[in-house]
Amino acid sequence: MTSPRTTLSLVDTDPAELAVDAIVIGVHSQTTEQEAGSPAGALLLASGAESIAAAFDGKLTETLALLGATGGPGEVIKLATLGTVTAPVVTAVGLGPEPSGAAPAPETLRRAAGAAVRALAGASRVALALPLPDDADAPAALRAVTEGALLGGYRFAGYKTKPQPARREPVAEVLVAVPDAADATAQAEVTRAQAVAGAVRTSRDWVNTAPNELRPPSFAEAVSAAAREAGLGVEVLDEAALAAGGYGGILAVGQGSEAPPRLVKLTYTPEGGGNGKRVALVGKGITFDTGGISIKPAQGMWEMKSDMAGAAAVGAAMLAVAALKPSVAVTGYLPMAENMPSGTSYRPGDVITMYSGKRVEVLNTDAEGRMILADAIARACEDGADYLFETSTLTGGQVIALGKRIAGVMGTPELCERVRAAGDATGEPAWPMPLPDDVRKGMDSEVADISQVNAGMDRAGHMLQGGVFLREFVTDDVAWAHIDIAGPGYHSGEATGYWTKGGTGVPVRTLLHLVDDVAANG
Ligand code: BES
Ligand code: MN
Ligand code: ZN
Repeated sequence: MTSPRTTLSLVDTDPAELAVDAIVIGVHSQTTEQEAGSPAGALLLASGAESIAAAFDGKLTETLALLGATGGPGEVIKLATLGTVTAPVVTAVGLGPEPSGAAPAPETLRRAAGAAVRALAGASRVALALPLPDDADAPAALRAVTEGALLGGYRFAGYKTKPQPARREPVAEVLVAVPDAADATAQAEVTRAQAVAGAVRTSRDWVNTAPNELRPPSFAEAVSAAAREAGLGVEVLDEAALAAGGYGGILAVGQGSEAPPRLVKLTYTPEGGGNGKRVALVGKGITFDTGGISIKPAQGMWEMKSDMAGAAAVGAAMLAVAALKPSVAVTGYLPMAENMPSGTSYRPGDVITMYSGKRVEVLNTDAEGRMILADAIARACEDGADYLFETSTLTGGQVIALGKRIAGVMGTPELCERVRAAGDATGEPAWPMPLPDDVRKGMDSEVADISQVNAGMDRAGHMLQGGVFLREFVTDDVAWAHIDIAGPGYHSGEATGYWTKGGTGVPVRTLLHLVDDVAANG
C-alpha cells in the first residue's frame, strides 16, 4: 500500500509571476511594541513575500489581518489574488514571532511548509516563497522547507473501496523559491530531501498498513523487495534459520503466532570501504502486540499495529542510505514477530536461552520488544558494529516520562548526546535518560541470568528497565544508544505541521543525520 508521491524543485524567478495554483508566503506575529502604530495590527510579512506584497499595493498585510491572520505558528489563511499576481491564490502561513535579527528556526520552517502543503491539498502545483537566510544557515533552512513540504503532502492510500469525491488529493508538485536555483548546495539539499522524505513516507506507509496485511513474513518480504531494488545486500532469516542459529528471544515471542518470525539484515557497503567505521541500526518489528498471554486491555489495542515503527524506520532509513551513499558502512537489523496469545505462546515463567547465550526469565509476555531486540543487538555486535543505534516502541513508561513528542535515549553517554543533537537538528527531539544500578538490581532473577522485567512487577523507572535490559546484550567495545519512541512513533491526534495522522516516520531523519555524523566525524 503506497501513498501518492509529491515532486519538488527549486525556482529563482519572481514568485509574483509563477504559474502555480497557489503561492505560499510567511507571516510573523508581531510583538506588542512592534504592533503599536502598525495598521496591520499584529501581522508582519516574512521575507520572500516582497514582490507579492508589492503587487498588492501595500495592502497585503491589512487584507490578511482582515481575514483573521495573526501569524501564529501553523495558521494557514488563503486569499484570492484577483489578478494581482499570476497565482490565483496566496496562502499565508504563520511563523510565530520574528526572531530578532535571525531567520526562523529550521523546525518552524519545516512545520510551516508542512502545514501549508497539507492545507493546499486539491491544488496540483504550489510554490513556497518562505524566508530563507542567505548565510551559513541557508542549507539547514532549505532542508527544513523541502522536508516539511514533502512530508506535509503525505497521505496514506488507505483501504476505501469507493472513490472519495470530497477528498482532495495531496499536492502533486511543489516549487521552492530560492535566490539561485542552480546553486549546487541547494540542489544537493533537494536531492537529499527527496531521498529522506521518501524514506519517512515509506516508513509511515508500513506503520499505517493494517496488521492483517503486515505480518512478519509479508513485512520481511516488503522490506527485502524495496531493499533489493535500492541495491542493498539482503539476508532474511526465516523460522528454520532462526532456530538453527539459536535466536531464542525472537523465536519465543514469535511462537504464539501462525505467522512465523523473521530477522531481516540489510547491508550497505560504501565504495572504497568508507571511513572504516561500521554503523548498525536495529529496529523493533512487532507487527502486532496483543501482549500475548499477559494480554493487553482491548481499549486502544489497535494502535499496537504501530509496534513495528522502529523496524519501519530502520528499513526505510536503509533505503535512503542506499540512495545517499554516505562514506560509512551501515547495516540494518529488523527482528520481526507477532505477539499473540495461543496454545503455542511463550508464557510467564519460561526461561529463554537468547542468541547471546544468556538466559532470561520471562515474567510478562508483554515485554516482548526487548526479547527480539536482544537477539538482534547481540547479532549486530557479533558482526562487528562500532556504533549501534537501536530504536523501538518499547515502553509505555517513555510516554509517561517524556510525552508523545520526545523520545527517550539510553546508552553510552557520548552517543546519547549525539542522538540528542541529531534530534535537535532534525526536529525529532530526544532526551538522555540514565541506566541506574538499582534498576538493574531489581531485574535479578532467582533462576536465570536476568529477569525480563522487574521481579516485583514494579513499574517505577519503567522506561529505564528496557534500557538496562538491552545493555546486557551489547558487547563492551560497542558504543550504543537505545531510542524509545513509544510516544513519537505514532500520532493519534489530528494532523499538525508536517505530521499526519498515524505513523510519523520518527526517527528516520535522526538515524540518517547520525549516519552522516559518523561518516563525517567517525
Ligand atoms: N509495545 C509496547 C509499548 C508501547 C506502549 C508502545 C504504548 C506504544 C505505546 C510494549 O511492548 C509493552 O507492552 N510494554 C509494556 C512493558 C511492561 C509489560 C513491562 C508496557 O509499556 O506496559
Ligand atoms: Mn508489549
Ligand atoms: Zn510491544
